[in-house]
Amino acid sequence: MTSPEREGSNKGNLPAPSKEEQAESAELAARITREIKESGGVIDFARFMELSLYAPGLGYYVNPARAKGITHDFVTAPDLSPLFGGCLANFCRPALEELGGGAIIEVGAGSGALAISLLRTLQQEGPLPERYLIREVSPALRALQERQLAQVVPELLPRIEWIEELPPGIRGVILANELLDALPCARFTMRDGNPRRLGISTSPMGFTWSIGDVLPQALTRLGGMSNEDYTSELGLGAEAWISETATRLAAGALLVIDYGFPRHEYYHPDRAGGTLMCHYRHRAHDDPLILPGLQDITAHLDFTALAEAAASAGLRVQGYTHQAAFLLDCGLMQQLERETDEHEHRRRVYETKILTLPSEMGELFKAMACTRGLSRPLPGFGLLDLRGRL
Ligand SMILES: C[S@@+](CC[C@H](N)C(=O)[O-])C[C@H]1O[C@@H](n2cnc3c(N)ncnc32)[C@H](O)[C@@H]1O
Repeated sequence: MTSPEREGSNKGNLPAPSKEEQAESAELAARITREIKESGGVIDFARFMELSLYAPGLGYYVNPARAKGITHDFVTAPDLSPLFGGCLANFCRPALEELGGGAIIEVGAGSGALAISLLRTLQQEGPLPERYLIREVSPALRALQERQLAQVVPELLPRIEWIEELPPGIRGVILANELLDALPCARFTMRDGNPRRLGISTSPMGFTWSIGDVLPQALTRLGGMSNEDYTSELGLGAEAWISETATRLAAGALLVIDYGFPRHEYYHPDRAGGTLMCHYRHRAHDDPLILPGLQDITAHLDFTALAEAAASAGLRVQGYTHQAAFLLDCGLMQQLERETDEHEHRRRVYETKILTLPSEMGELFKAMACTRGLSRPLPGFGLLDLRGRL
């Protein structure tokens, strides 16, 4: 996601929430506080993140009031440009051809923009998938997706289905764009040479960090680095999602696009404050403990850990690269050239820059494709394959 203004740790000039928003945030804070008390005074950060984002009715992604304005807080690649969905259509095509059909399954479909641009490309250039399945955890966002798709591509609705869970035995392509950064992660800080789990407790000033016991999984990731006060995250939710999803994929591909790094860059001594990032009305800052339910909370991904989880579940990591190289190899420039309207073409040129420039989404965002039972290489990794860095 992109947010033009980055506040760093300076939260001084975030816009003030409305009275209604303050009331909803206070209700969620009370709900979290109750759980902290019932848990003996502290909960894991992962649980705090889960409640902030997904507590029924009040979490950031599930509150209908937030969901309808999701693009007021950040812009994702599919929301930015239909070129992104066009490139993903080009990624899916050869896998579906080799399988002789199959489904495209999008997990975490946000505003529905990716489904629209991807399906429109396949509608024009063929072939349409037998089915386009959407797994969306947020009832409010699902309703938004249903409205958008019914409005823009009503003729395709018979192929589109919202599902409650990923079925076993999937043959096709599973897409996860900016899903995994929004799954709850653990957080730790180094004390006396050990990574100690960070939890959340309460104080008269609001939520506060609490240092707990050793987080054993972090020890193996840090490669001996033990800088005092070094703080970072462990994407346990994202890794569990990859493991679970891989077991559902009988044949085809799983494509993850998100921001992150290989492990040696992720746990770099210079990244001493970790990767947590919050988005509120196009401002990015790094304090997840404020504005509960009103702001998005994300963590970058350790792509080495995701590749390990996929390989352990029997998938082949077929490619890993920057978003820019991925989109270019999936025909970004050819799509741009096809735009004949001068005004639209200027817009697409601007969008192409945001998607690909290293200073924008081009290098921080990575694409990783994992496959099972496919023999032909998939597009996306022909220009630059960075698997050696994982
Ligand atoms: C940051 S948004 C990205 C939306 C969209 N993929 C895009 O790129 O615009 C994350 C999306 O994932 C959904 N989500 C979060 N956890 C999920 C889960 N476990 N299963 C399915 N969807 C989930 C959210 O409700 C939201 O639609």
